Amino acid sequence: MAMWRPPERIRHDAEGGRWPTRDEAAAARLFQPFQVGGLTLTARTWVPAMVPWRAADSGEVTPNVLDWYRRFALGRPAVLVVEATGIADVPSGPLLRIGHDRFIPGLAQLAQTVREASHGETRLLIQLIDFLAIRRRPEPQRYLNEFLKITPRHRQLLDAAAQSEEQLRRQLCAMGDAQLRHVLSSREYEAMSMGYRERVTDLHLPHIRQLPERLPQEFAAAARRAREAGLDGVELHFAHAYTMASFLSATNDRTDGYGGTRAERQRLPLEILAAVRREAGVDFTVGCRFLAEECIEGGSGVHDACDHASVFAKAGFDFLSLSRGGKFDDARQPRIGEAAYPYTGRSGYECMPSYYSDSFGPFDRNRRAARDVRAAVRTAGFATPVVAGGGIHNFETAESWLADGSADVVSIARQALADPDWFVKVRAGLGSRVRLCKYTNYCEALDQRHREVTCELWDREQLDVPGTVLSKDGKRRLIAPPFDNSEG
Ligand SMILES: Cc1cc2nc3c(=O)[nH]c(=O)nc-3n(C[C@H](O)[C@H](O)[C@H](O)COP(=O)(O)O)c2cc1C
Ligand code: SF4
Repeated sequence: MAMWRPPERIRHDAEGGRWPTRDEAAAARLFQPFQVGGLTLTARTWVPAMVPWRAADSGEVTPNVLDWYRRFALGRPAVLVVEATGIADVPSGPLLRIGHDRFIPGLAQLAQTVREASHGETRLLIQLIDFLAIRRRPEPQRYLNEFLKITPRHRQLLDAAAQSEEQLRRQLCAMGDAQLRHVLSSREYEAMSMGYRERVTDLHLPHIRQLPERLPQEFAAAARRAREAGLDGVELHFAHAYTMASFLSATNDRTDGYGGTRAERQRLPLEILAAVRREAGVDFTVGCRFLAEECIEGGSGVHDACDHASVFAKAGFDFLSLSRGGKFDDARQPRIGEAAYPYTGRSGYECMPSYYSDSFGPFDRNRRAARDVRAAVRTAGFATPVVAGGGIHNFETAESWLADGSADVVSIARQALADPDWFVKVRAGLGSRVRLCKYTNYCEALDQRHREVTCELWDREQLDVPGTVLSKDGKRRLIAPPFDNSEG
């Protein structure tokens, strides 16, 4: 599925800039200890959630999951967030789950692995997610013959009250795109051309209507399990294309008190926080990730995010992590047999911009919004830490986000994937040996195809070294090569 490309295609290369000496790093803001909830971080560095597609189909932690997070922990970021992990105990492919107590032992092993590999330096959080159903794009004929429910509206528009359903379907199958757009409702047309997708506003569906009854308890039980597994805290996923982001969105017009005004859109997130606190304990670190801007037509902007942030800070979240875009609303049409992917439209580009960009470039796109959101939280009288980033790869930029109040803790995703040792290298004055991310989004394309995520900068290296774990086709190494410090 093609990604959205900005109309201008200007190439922007990541640059290392001036790396600090060991002494400069020791004095830098980035490497000072910092308090988040009940956790003392060794530095103000944060690796946000990234799904690597390594869990078992049953949602369990696998040896590959342990290897993946161990490798990040060896680089010793102050915080490492485990990928979006499902709070519902429903089959969802090789994505981690936490919707039942049987997942606790595997997650406990994960927590132990990260503690050992980082010598206790890296705090391990887990991102908790709920998502709604989405189906693959069907063959149009199959959709019209099998999936479409014939309604009085179709009969009326086709002026065919007397015809049998079979005759009607035959008529529909013979229609061109323009006619189908007229006869089908917009949701039916979407189900045929993109694949069916549920929305939080589908109040006619009982399980969607009942989300406010189900979700607080499920998030709470998941947080309790994370605590029992020995994780240091949880991040509630209120960002991107998923259920809770849709509740917060300006597009949420539910009429049951959970949509409409900002206060109504914030109601379920706040009820979830209260339930999590009750079940996981008031001293367990709980934050959330949400969007500084949705970057879609009619979606939430930075003013919404400022208000959400102040309300969340008041309610007692321990940290607020900001992301950007990543919505289904403007996703590209998938190929037949594939599902829509929320990072293919403009909002997806804003979430994970690649090196061919507009004149602004792929770096710092969330910076201004993040600074506004953090300022709003401070103006409201709260000191809640704000975690933010986007395209951060060199020391000077990371430091400047802290210096100018764009963030309290700097989030580094793809750069940490390209070189998990970024943190130890920079702190040791070895920044010139960082493997700089190129922002090609090769990793994201693997995520889109539900294949094990790797980085093109290292996945073909040292394939024949004994013990190297390879992808199923044997062509890619699954873990970044070890840091050879012999020159340092
Ligand atoms: C392969 C991959 C998987 C990701 N999975 C998640 C996820 O599970 N949850 C989430 O909130 N963000 C996810 N993201 C988004 C990143 O956390 C981050 O917001 C984004 O990459 C922008 O930061 P960066 O410019 O530092 O890479 C993912 C990104 C990548 C590249
Ligand atoms: S594949 Fe590697 S270099 Fe390319 S964007 Fe992902 S992490 Fe960066």
